[in-house]
Amino acid sequence: MTMTDMGSIYRVKDPLIFTIYGASGDLAKLKIFPAIFALAEQKRFPEALAIVGFARSQKSQEDFRKDFADSVRQHYKDSWGDYQNQILESLLKNVHYFSGQYDSETDFDKFKEFLGEKCISKQQPQHLMYFSVPPFVVKPILTQVAAVFEPKQNDIRLILEKPFGSDETTAQALFHFLSHHYCESQLYFLDHYLGKKAVRSLIPLRHMNRILNSMLKGREIANIQISAIEPMGVGERVGYFDEVGTIKDVVQSHLLQVLAMLTMSIPIDDEAERVQEERTAILNALDFKTDTNHLALGQYEGYKAEDKKVKNSNTETFAALRLSINRETWHDVPIFLRTGKKLHTKHTYLVVELKKFSFQDAEQEPNRVIIEFYPHESIQIRLLDEDGATLRKGEIAASESIACYGDYCLPEHGLLLLDVARGEKRFFLGMPEIVASWHIIDQVIDFMRVANLKPEIYKAGCEGPAGQHNLMKGTNFKWYQPS
Ligand code: BG6
Repeated sequence: MTMTDMGSIYRVKDPLIFTIYGASGDLAKLKIFPAIFALAEQKRFPEALAIVGFARSQKSQEDFRKDFADSVRQHYKDSWGDYQNQILESLLKNVHYFSGQYDSETDFDKFKEFLGEKCISKQQPQHLMYFSVPPFVVKPILTQVAAVFEPKQNDIRLILEKPFGSDETTAQALFHFLSHHYCESQLYFLDHYLGKKAVRSLIPLRHMNRILNSMLKGREIANIQISAIEPMGVGERVGYFDEVGTIKDVVQSHLLQVLAMLTMSIPIDDEAERVQEERTAILNALDFKTDTNHLALGQYEGYKAEDKKVKNSNTETFAALRLSINRETWHDVPIFLRTGKKLHTKHTYLVVELKKFSFQDAEQEPNRVIIEFYPHESIQIRLLDEDGATLRKGEIAASESIACYGDYCLPEHGLLLLDVARGEKRFFLGMPEIVASWHIIDQVIDFMRVANLKPEIYKAGCEGPAGQHNLMKGTNFKWYQPS
């Protein structure tokens, strides 16, 4: 696959069986069913198709189809019409439900038979199996799939979502187990941030615009900031969230992946292994100083009342970290990451502040490259504008939204599922990069424990704890707020 194939229409080959484990859960309803519908709307599916929900709850085919249809209609309510109704009606004929226990070989034997009846074809099907289940049931399912489906002899592709383990040791153990039962080519470690168009665009943008790439070199950059802030609290996910906290939930994969995509060397070819290797090289070079000015934690007011089990919890719902990259070209560039819940708005973006001339006023605004992921997907280059003898505060902005065409009209999970079907792995994580991410995050978590750091309580709807500004101490930098 080459860079220029990115916009072409790819149709999944016949026959396809797409299983969703945990099909009665929230992730399936919020993300996966709408993504499947988007693929159907773009006519990406083959004739011989079975979309099969597997879950423990007893449910009739009709009820499952209704759940599927409701989630899709709800998701696309602003653009729903007769055409969408037709697509959905025809898709629903291929939607099925199977109820079984995740650790029962008997149930998996029955499930295999069930699939044979639902997708009849002379060809061997391609199986996509998506895991939308809590971490503790992943291994039982993988064990049964390995026992019943003979994965090494069949085209079975497993799509696993983070968290991949809970630290470096457990991630290594998971990979050891997986490598025993499956080939690496069958494993797709999904981080939905790599399904965001603005994140994916970083590769072709840097590859095709040498001028942009030379701006994005360590020696030109004063600092990098990546922010992912949201107004939602943890809600019903409190049980899961309290175990992990926002550093493991959002920083460990999402923000580190964005950082790696921005700072990695661009490989001259676009083979997935090469892209993964370059991201891994960055992740392996990350450095965290065990200094209380390099880490700020917060917890929103009211978090402890979310559930009685968390009434004494010190789990962080906000985190800001300062890192650096231990490489010749990068080691001088401070990197600031922050993420938090129950904040004033939903905004996800990265800002690269470019260096100034030594004769420029330290107070003057820097030039910036800003890449927004939400609410807009756009790239902006902001330059200072001179007005006669006086420098105006204003900036000249070159700004381009990421166009929606072909694959890029699909939602994050739609794009990633299509990647799995066509065997494109550039936007999935390799095991070494997951291990490297845990390696640095384990150091942060260890520091929190040793230094006995407690989160600062912040009010819902504000910009987060004041402590986040300590990270900029001793510099002229400020957290940038795009307008
Ligand atoms: C998920 C986290 O992986 O990413 C959530 O578990 C977080 O806690 C979400 O809210 C953020 O994703 P996005 O795409 O809305 O920025």
